[in-house]
Amino acid sequence: MAARIAGTASDATRAFEAAQALPWKPAARPRAILLAGMGGSAIAGDLLVDYAGDEMPAPFLVVRDYSLPGWAGPDCLFIASSYSGNTEETLSAYEDAARRGIPRVALCSGGRLQELALRDGTPCAGFPGGYQPRAAIGWSFFTLLGITIRLGLLGPRDREVAAAIGRIRESAERMGPEAPEVSNPAKQLARWLHGGFPVLYGAGRRLGAVALRWRTQLNENSKVFAHHHALPEQNHNEIVGWELPHAWLAQARIVGLSDRGDLSRVRARLEITGRILSEGGAAFQMVESVGDSLLERLFSLLVLGDWVSLYLGLLNGVDPTPVENINRLKSELERAGVP
Ligand code: PA5
Repeated sequence: MAARIAGTASDATRAFEAAQALPWKPAARPRAILLAGMGGSAIAGDLLVDYAGDEMPAPFLVVRDYSLPGWAGPDCLFIASSYSGNTEETLSAYEDAARRGIPRVALCSGGRLQELALRDGTPCAGFPGGYQPRAAIGWSFFTLLGITIRLGLLGPRDREVAAAIGRIRESAERMGPEAPEVSNPAKQLARWLHGGFPVLYGAGRRLGAVALRWRTQLNENSKVFAHHHALPEQNHNEIVGWELPHAWLAQARIVGLSDRGDLSRVRARLEITGRILSEGGAAFQMVESVGDSLLERLFSLLVLGDWVSLYLGLLNGVDPTPVENINRLKSELERAGVP
């Protein structure tokens, strides 16, 4: 897993170049774009919405389900994203898109989705095999970004992408296994989280996907239960849930993810929330994004979380790579054969 995280920058470079060279273009600007995917293959869509949602000429919806919403029709664009190409929810949404006559695009490393795309003449951006889906984030996100530019949904942004990839590469040097704990923020943060209950709070609507990514990476790489939420919504309900002095509150380690583009009101909310919850016994620290563009800043936080999850897994004495419960669940479902 360490090598995969370290390889994210070169994956991103190759993915972005390949996506923009794809030999297809849409007939017309879609009314909406729907990306179907699960887990590690859905997060790229969430990140794209946080990063570029404001610039998109049409709504971009991430669908984590077997079927599409009722309003989706032939004037939309459908993207099926499944690293393995075998995820049943995504395959089912792909067929649903076909029934509704929605133009489709596929992102995968092979599997059934690739076979169906070949059969149907659906444009397909292929990823190399051999990754855990979550570790292919360089491929999945930068392919998706490249495609949206290629399709004219977003304007060109080569310099911004180069800077973001540069940040990912620099993080691998600063946070990789060779960098000692004394100068490695990811190892320090993993040590702080070790033995505690990680809670990720993302400030503002730009950091929801990053907070989700941290949580799912902690789940899968560190094999721990974790929680995430976004502000300001957290301030309107969940904050009250910390009032009773349960024993586990003292175990909580809250990471407040923050970006300088956050509204100052939301930043104030995060700081006050941290103060209130610390008084209740939880430990709290802010983690700031770094970089010029929003893309660079989002990825500065994302890769930090990836490295933290790796080191927390190692501190927990587990192998970060396998996901036994996911594999078991998928094979039991297959054996159950329920239509
Ligand atoms: O991280 C994982 O392994 C999962 O979250 C998978 O991404 C998820 O089960 C979907 O599989 P795939 O990405 O192959 O479509």
